[in-house]
Amino acid sequence: MSEIKSIGVLTSGGDAPGMNPAVRAVVRVGIAKGLKVYGIQRGYTGLLNGDIRELSTKDVSEKIQLGGTFLQTARCKGMREPEGPKKAAEMCRVFGIDALVIIGGDGSFKGAGEIAKYGVNVIGIPGTIDLDIACTDYTIGFDTAVNTAMEAIDKIRDTSTSHERCSIVEVMGRDAGYIALWCGIVNGAEEIIIPERKLDVNYDAIIKSVIQNKQRGKKHNLIIVAEGVGGSQALAEKIESITGIATRVSILGYLQRGGSPTALDRMRASMMGAIAVEVLMEGKRNRIIVYKDGKYNDVDLDEGLAMQKQLDKQEYDISRLLETR
Ligand code: F6P
Repeated sequence: MSEIKSIGVLTSGGDAPGMNPAVRAVVRVGIAKGLKVYGIQRGYTGLLNGDIRELSTKDVSEKIQLGGTFLQTARCKGMREPEGPKKAAEMCRVFGIDALVIIGGDGSFKGAGEIAKYGVNVIGIPGTIDLDIACTDYTIGFDTAVNTAMEAIDKIRDTSTSHERCSIVEVMGRDAGYIALWCGIVNGAEEIIIPERKLDVNYDAIIKSVIQNKQRGKKHNLIIVAEGVGGSQALAEKIESITGIATRVSILGYLQRGGSPTALDRMRASMMGAIAVEVLMEGKRNRIIVYKDGKYNDVDLDEGLAMQKQLDKQEYDISRLLETR
């Protein structure tokens, strides 16, 4: 049986649509199971500063449909300092918090692992638009972000077609090309350039195919570049100077992180938030809630963090076939 009486919940790192429904589920299910639930403002920064307050079920009303995170978030420098995790654990004791639920990405989970070394039970919920956490097939926010990017790219394609231009669209993803890969497929891009395969990119072949597409009567060329590869402006200038085809760059940037979460993100976030509380009540320690092979589950935090995210080879190979004109 669980000895947990009170839990803290925080959102950390880059925000992701769906973080609010996840917090809501932690609060509602936690209270339903007889726990005190504390909301921690601004991620680990608020934990270190004691910016912590008890939440009621009413505090999470009207939050499910909101983008961003009402608890706010931060990339916390203090947690990377040697004393940071120890101080975070002390603050949990000061507030009587027995366990922390951390909604964020890999970096936030590493921080959680450090706090766990000082005896605090930590549960991670994957929340990042990048889909780059190896132990889970799903991260909260990816679905909304990729739908937002898809709609924006459809619009760029319209104007690109009208003007018979080449469009280079840069999407988010520092080390992971999942948003670019998905947009490459769902927007019907001619090329995708992603960090995981950046050594394979043949820029001469891309320029050649831009020319051949024009000769075949194609009215636009759409190239999706992941932020982690970058170089979009230089590529545009190169394409335009060699081919004579007007080439424009659009960097989608932070709009991909905002907006009301999709049904899928609300659903997964609600389930993962609820399961995080159940896992704590079962007496489990230091876990990551995952959605893997079509099922919700939980894995050991250290084991989950040790895994390396691989690009989905099948999706990548098919994206290349679909690029074939
Ligand atoms: O991790 C999500 C993400 O949006 C990445 O795609 C991007 O590289 C990064 O965060 C940007 O971080 P920041 O909000 O600190 O600029």
